[in-house]
Amino acid sequence: MKPDSRPLPVCAQAGPYAVPVVEGQRYRWCSCGLSKTQPWCDDAHVGTPFVPVEFEAPLSAEFFMCGCKRSENPPYCFGTCRGHSRSSQGGSRA
Ligand code: FES
Repeated sequence: MKPDSRPLPVCAQAGPYAVPVVEGQRYRWCSCGLSKTQPWCDDAHVGTPFVPVEFEAPLSAEFFMCGCKRSENPPYCFGTCRGHSRSSQGGSRA
């Protein structure tokens, strides 16, 4: 298997950002980890291979946005910061 040579984003926070979002409003989630306005993009990614992930809030609520930038389901926290992954699901609980 060929090693993955893609650059890794900066881990902005080892845990999610709990933020209020407004239904129908569009947001740009920072995927590079460099933004000073986490979890949202402030264009600090310019010049890097990263681009923000755009999404429209489906409802008004508090959302848990990925802070480690390694979620398998960005922009949402998927527990990757706590060692969860899709490949580790379905097995026994250790
Ligand atoms: S600042 Fe990180 S993706 Fe824009």
